[in-house]
Amino acid sequence: MENGAAQPVIVAIDGPSGTGKSSTSKAVAAQLGLSYLDTGAQYRAITWWMVTNGIDIDDPTAIAAVAGKPEIVSGTDPENPTITVDGTDVAGPIRSQEVTSKVSAVSAVPEVRARITELQRSLATSAEKGIVVEGRDIGTTVLPDADLKVFLTASPEARAARRSGELKSTDVQATREALIKRDAADSSRKTSPLAKADDAVEVDTTELTLAQVIECVVTLVEEKRAGK
Ligand code: DC
Repeated sequence: MENGAAQPVIVAIDGPSGTGKSSTSKAVAAQLGLSYLDTGAQYRAITWWMVTNGIDIDDPTAIAAVAGKPEIVSGTDPENPTITVDGTDVAGPIRSQEVTSKVSAVSAVPEVRARITELQRSLATSAEKGIVVEGRDIGTTVLPDADLKVFLTASPEARAARRSGELKSTDVQATREALIKRDAADSSRKTSPLAKADDAVEVDTTELTLAQVIECVVTLVEEKRAGK
């Protein structure tokens, strides 16, 4: 760029669990000096609030009625992403087994999605240098005009092994089943399901190291910036 100031760039990274979305997105953002948003953490945060406040997770009407209540704030520094609900740091509790098992039901409620989508768009448009946003429906619904859309995939075996490693669990089979169940729920819901945008670049990470996936996405962003 002639004046040396790069235009803000918006990168959408979607895909199912265990494909390396978070690690890749954070590293790409840090490497390129961009902001970073973990949209799954936002859905987990609203789920944590529902559970903490005794809302019946099996009752979409009850969830919809209170979807606007919690104040969810995401810190977008890729070196130190934060998430609070009504001022409480929930970074730890949102990774609990209970929240993980309930997040698909809560995130399928249209009122929840509308609320969280609005937050996501506002963060993306206010990121000065640009942002890497990771999720399930970023390229299709939240930011359909993103400069670059990447869809990460991996075999169910590779995804289960990675998640088991993160959770320090030895039961890879149980992790695989829970993961497949959650992906099926996320892909089959009516409102903005997990899906690859037509113009997304698909990257199969099964045989790649994390460093290779990061390099691949950084190259894709740089090519976009160079107008290739
Ligand atoms: O990325 P994750 O596993 O932390 O996401 C948790 C859940 O949040 C996932 O099972 C589905 C939901 N989610 C969603 O519906 N839309 C997004 N953009 C991101 C996550």
